[in-house]
Amino acid sequence: MRKLKRVLTGDRPTGCLHLGHYVGSLKNRLRLQDEYECFFIIADLQVLTDHLEKYEEIQKNVFEIMCDYLAVGLREDNIFFIQSQVPELAELTVYFSFLVKLPELQRNPTLKEESKMYGVKKMSLGFLSYPVSQAADILFCKPNLVPVGRDQLPHIELAREVARSFNRIFGKKVFPLPQAVLSECPILIGIDGKHKMSKSLNNYIAFAHTPEETTQRILSAYTDPLRPYKKDPGHPEECLVFKYHSLFFPQVAQKILSQCKKAKVGCKECKLILAKNLNSFLAPIRKRRNYYHSRPKIVWEILANGTKKARKVAVQTLREVRKAMRFSYPF
Ligand code: TRP
Repeated sequence: MRKLKRVLTGDRPTGCLHLGHYVGSLKNRLRLQDEYECFFIIADLQVLTDHLEKYEEIQKNVFEIMCDYLAVGLREDNIFFIQSQVPELAELTVYFSFLVKLPELQRNPTLKEESKMYGVKKMSLGFLSYPVSQAADILFCKPNLVPVGRDQLPHIELAREVARSFNRIFGKKVFPLPQAVLSECPILIGIDGKHKMSKSLNNYIAFAHTPEETTQRILSAYTDPLRPYKKDPGHPEECLVFKYHSLFFPQVAQKILSQCKKAKVGCKECKLILAKNLNSFLAPIRKRRNYYHSRPKIVWEILANGTKKARKVAVQTLREVRKAMRFSYPF
């Protein structure tokens, strides 16, 4: 029996992490890292789904995302690993691909949404089947929990389905069913007030942004459309800036709420308060980020160690899988 319960989660390295990642998953991970053995996958192969032409940037993004992880306070001794460097995951994906029916993938709402968002007209086989590969990312280490944002739920459900089918068909309880954990605010709307915060829509605030950039971005944020002038009372419940206040600084938010409703604080002033508070919150994160960013050797070493550990677990699981599938020959 394992000593600690396991957590697995991860990201695609498509750019720097931002506040959306913070509320959607990093905050959860910070809490979980003290109680669980944590596996964090950097899913570099998965970037090829809708950013195939950006293959040259992936390695740099792996480095950046790793700096972000350490910057927010994830400890170096968690198991951080790179998807493409654990070839057993690719093998497991092949086995799993026989357990998933095509319509199940074609119906996947997250997949549909992503292909629409990035204007992918003819989906590659790899894109269509990435949830199967993600099931392998998850199941190989038999995690208890998979903390993710709401958009990932269909993928976790598929992973559970794959685990169930595998156990049923091959007559062994190789894969325990992992449980998804949602954070309290799984999707953060970006500063455009319309879409989920994301790098590709440029509606984000990154850890890598400077204080000045952060302030500029907050100042450009979408606010209450029903309040053209400061003298008009605001509708904080529907205002994005207020949403940010309440998520990050609940106590300040109480004050803003009443002042905004009474037209005692203007939108610009309200945004400047938010920018100032966010910048104080981000200051230690930026400091740690700079520390690691200027010491690439340390960062790559952490990834090398994590990948080695993840591989060891994967090799063991694949042994069990081949045995269950009768792919263990007497030579
Ligand atoms: N699909 C996830 C995302 O886009 C990244 C990911 C890859 C992942 N493999 C995973 C998340 C396994 C959780 C578990 O954010």
